[in-house]
Amino acid sequence: MKQILVTGGTGYIGSHTAVELQHKSYEVIVADNLSNSSLDVLDGIEQITGKRPLFEQIDFAKDQACRDFFAKYPNIEAIIHFAAYKAVGESMEQPIKYYRNNLLGLMNILEAMSHHGIKHLVFSSSATVYGQPELLPASEKAPFQPATSPYGNTKQISEEIIQDCLQADPQLSAIALRYFNPIGAHASALIGELPLGVPNNLVPFITQTAIGIRGKLKVFGTDYNTPDGTAIRDYIHVVDLAKAHVYAIERLLNNQFQTPFEFFNLGTGKGRSVLEIIQCFERVSGVKLPYELVGRRPGDVEQVWADTELANRVLGWSAQSSLEETLLSAWNWEKNYRAKNQ
Ligand code: WQD
Repeated sequence: MKQILVTGGTGYIGSHTAVELQHKSYEVIVADNLSNSSLDVLDGIEQITGKRPLFEQIDFAKDQACRDFFAKYPNIEAIIHFAAYKAVGESMEQPIKYYRNNLLGLMNILEAMSHHGIKHLVFSSSATVYGQPELLPASEKAPFQPATSPYGNTKQISEEIIQDCLQADPQLSAIALRYFNPIGAHASALIGELPLGVPNNLVPFITQTAIGIRGKLKVFGTDYNTPDGTAIRDYIHVVDLAKAHVYAIERLLNNQFQTPFEFFNLGTGKGRSVLEIIQCFERVSGVKLPYELVGRRPGDVEQVWADTELANRVLGWSAQSSLEETLLSAWNWEKNYRAKNQ
């Protein structure tokens, strides 16, 4: 079995990707520093696939720890690198924490790849690199706008670091996957988005309001230049997103890539407003959501959704889940998680 390293593999997207890799008979090493996830996630993965991934608790931003890790695992064929901090608001308050962790971790991984002859990297990037695109839907050719947060900036700089390393080492090949808004959870409700603290993101805040943990949802901004005045995003099921990582890894392992560094937008290609998400959630859950309309959240873009043509045609991947089943999966995860963690 080919061995794939999934850094940040006990995290939200990492854990769902580990499941999809195991379904395709890859041997998965999950490596995580557990700063924003828990070991229980490995139980969920094992219950779903029947196989517990190898696990190492490690902080890749620590040089020696990273070297020791790769000396211990000499058979890694490819790496999917998720491990990074990702809270936009927190990055505004603690920029150095974000630059140190996200950039040092990536640089240590890239150094180890060259040193150990690991040729392939799938990098977890983000649609935040586009900021507010001038043209919609946002295509991979859209120019980067100045990042609106240190988090978004680490993603832009990371892509540039990878580009430079590929130029220096022709053995390397990489794919950057630019996520729009990942939501939902595995159909089993055994893994999902771990709710630590007050959620920044819309859908976990909705499900925690629906289950009674939060009093009321705030809708940030009703004066946008959109049909109902609320902001528009492209919400994609996390399992669809996870499957795209398997497509990307296989494209690299089978040397099907056209250039050493390829980029793909991962979205549904459909934009939905905040009010549309609320209404859809109420329909599928049968729960009336208490919410209030308030001012805009600083740093938010007005509207962004993906041009998915490249991922559909070249990667051969497209999002399959409807918004209804995606929101229902988020709701089922919330109910199952709370029932188990009273
Ligand atoms: C979506 C919409 C909010 C909460 C973030 C990260 C991005 C990426 C995806 C990693 C916005 C509105 C939200 C609430 C609200 N993550 N909202 N009330 O900001 O589009 O993107 O997640 O790559 O990096 O920035 O997602 O879910 O926070 O917000 O009205 O309580 O919901 O204003 O319009 P966002 P989000």
